[in-house]
Amino acid sequence: MSPDPAPDLASRRSAMRTLGRLAAAPLAATLAAPSRAQGKPGAAYTLRAAPAKRHIAGAGYPDTPVWAYNATVPGPVLRVRQGERLSVQVTNDLAEETTVHWHGLRIPNAMDGVPHLTQPPVAARGGRFDYAFVCPDAGTFWYHPHARGHVQVDMGLHGALIVEEHEPIPVSRDVLWVLDDWRLAKDASIAGDFGAMFDTAHGGRIGNTVTINGVVPDRFEVTSGERIRLRLLNVANARVFSLAFEGHSPYVIALDGMPCEPHAPDGGRIVLGPGMRADVILEASQPPGSTQRVIDDFTRGDAYRVVTIGYRAGAVAQAPPATRAIRLVANPVPEPDLERAERHAVTLSGGMMGGMMGGAMMGRGMGGGMGRGMTGGAIWALNGRSASETDHSHAPLLTLARGRSHLIELRNDTAWWHPIHLHGHSFRIVARNGRALARRDLVDTSLLAPRETAQIAFVADNPGDWMFHCHVLEHQAGGMMATVRVA
Ligand code: C2O
Ligand code: CU
Repeated sequence: MSPDPAPDLASRRSAMRTLGRLAAAPLAATLAAPSRAQGKPGAAYTLRAAPAKRHIAGAGYPDTPVWAYNATVPGPVLRVRQGERLSVQVTNDLAEETTVHWHGLRIPNAMDGVPHLTQPPVAARGGRFDYAFVCPDAGTFWYHPHARGHVQVDMGLHGALIVEEHEPIPVSRDVLWVLDDWRLAKDASIAGDFGAMFDTAHGGRIGNTVTINGVVPDRFEVTSGERIRLRLLNVANARVFSLAFEGHSPYVIALDGMPCEPHAPDGGRIVLGPGMRADVILEASQPPGSTQRVIDDFTRGDAYRVVTIGYRAGAVAQAPPATRAIRLVANPVPEPDLERAERHAVTLSGGMMGGMMGGAMMGRGMGGGMGRGMTGGAIWALNGRSASETDHSHAPLLTLARGRSHLIELRNDTAWWHPIHLHGHSFRIVARNGRALARRDLVDTSLLAPRETAQIAFVADNPGDWMFHCHVLEHQAGGMMATVRVA
């Protein structure tokens, strides 16, 4: 053991006292693999979740009451180097319980931030929890509460976590766009109709105000000749973005933080469901003084301008030399063996379909129980069962043998889009609609179109009980969540 006091172990011990049996397994697993739990000390941060006011809606509108980390929306960008330890002391000054989940990070289960599953909730009005973990993968990740996420994330609690590569890539600038979607009333306050049945049973809480980095953007200033690494992160509860950069040909170098074969996005659109990220290279190839639009046309017939790319007049920049497409070094993620993989199937059901509720509402999925409050109960299901975030006493959806390769067929039996997210692991999407894919993207969230099937594969190397859920947060609250046990 290192002489370092290792705050992660201290907080794990206190979590274990409270949780007893639940936390014991991850603690033992962590002790068996000390390198993963400790590592070089890296960055240390404090995050305080509390009500605040932010100017979101733009000129002529009043401030918006929000919930924020360190009084900013999005929360502060947390940066740490790959392989180093990130420590974050969280204080909860909200009037309700919270946690912080580190979306996309392959970290020990006890640090995963899921209330009642991996830790007790952080108490309202002054509760504390210290998170600390080694960040094994470089890339664009994010953090957000996992308690009443459909309210807390929407209210403004979210931020980016950037794990830096050992070798910088040859770009002029590294830019982050946190894309969000707000449902604002006329006075710029956040509409209070969280968990409305209509939203839950349809596409989730779609808003009326799209922001980049917490403000309604007008112009994104660039200099002709620059090469920009643009990190795109969708923190919206429900909106899917399909971004077209007019006049430009961005190419994708990473998805959900994981390096990929550099490629032009399919159909020229970068599609990001809630929770998803893409790192793209944007060459500012237009002349000084010109303007171009970034469009979101995910909803056919309802395209809108997200922001204008404005070229500085009379200025030209020289990007660092690069003779070919920029490629990131792969992260140390084990490759699944598809031949030998154990096979599993998960069917997504429920929601509104042509005026009728799907299977979950018709009775199959009612086992999730009562008391889901505002969300109106079990609207959505995985393999016929709706779950609730406060009760994890039921059996896991899947139990996966640790260290083995697994292939899960996801079948979307609904009329809606679902970004399906697994904690603690990244997985490859190996097939869609029965067809093997040439580029097997390594991601933590897979967006499924209505009626689509997808096969995902990964090595279950991270022990514990992990959340597996739709990242449309109203769908999650409406029952589309489960646990997957790796043991
Ligand atoms: Cu972004 Cu279960 O989380
Ligand atoms: Cu969904």
